Amino acid sequence: MHVKFISAEDTFCLRQRVLKPGVAINSCYFPKDNEPETFHLAVVENDEIISIGSFNRSNLPYFGSTAQYHLKGMATSLEHRGKNAGSVLVRFAIDYLKQKDIHLLWCNARVSAVGFYQKLGFTSIGDAFEVEGIGMHQTMYINFN
Ligand SMILES: CC(C)(COP(=O)(O)OP(=O)(O)OC[C@H]1O[C@@H](n2cnc3c(N)ncnc32)[C@H](O)[C@@H]1OP(=O)(O)O)[C@@H](O)C(=O)NCCC(=O)NCCS
Repeated sequence: MHVKFISAEDTFCLRQRVLKPGVAINSCYFPKDNEPETFHLAVVENDEIISIGSFNRSNLPYFGSTAQYHLKGMATSLEHRGKNAGSVLVRFAIDYLKQKDIHLLWCNARVSAVGFYQKLGFTSIGDAFEVEGIGMHQTMYINFN
């Protein structure tokens, strides 16, 4: 398996299947998808995209003006879970962000995925909150140098 940069459109298929089942593919777009500093990563195995994540420049007020990135749309296809695809993708992003002199990455994790982020070294902040139609979420972050 390897990691590569992909377009926003190339994330839609897996976003739809894993994160937004039953939603039209043209509703799988996120508002910051095409901003100049946004990037999208895929883990590819045998020419198939098996895991995706999108990273946009966005600050949590909690961390003041520290340069930060927001991880959104993290998903691994059901058949390929537990093979480290997701963690390989996040670690690749962290290395890439370091080169851009960014040292803080955060996400609003589904509560069911908190363990995945904890294993990568993320810490929870604040209380869990409900996102209508999806469920409970927890803000998490990782600082890296
Ligand atoms: C969360 C998700 C992206 C993890 O992807 P993955 O490719 O299966 O993760 P990895 O194989 O890299 O897992 C790395 C480690 O985290 C653990 N892990 C993975 N998902 C986990 C979860 N939901 N809860 C607890 N631990 C989890 C794995 O067991 C593994 O542990 P190990 O290193 O001790 O073996 C994937 O389960 C998924 O797409 N879930 C549905 C959508 C979702 O919830 N996305 C996150 C939105 S915030």
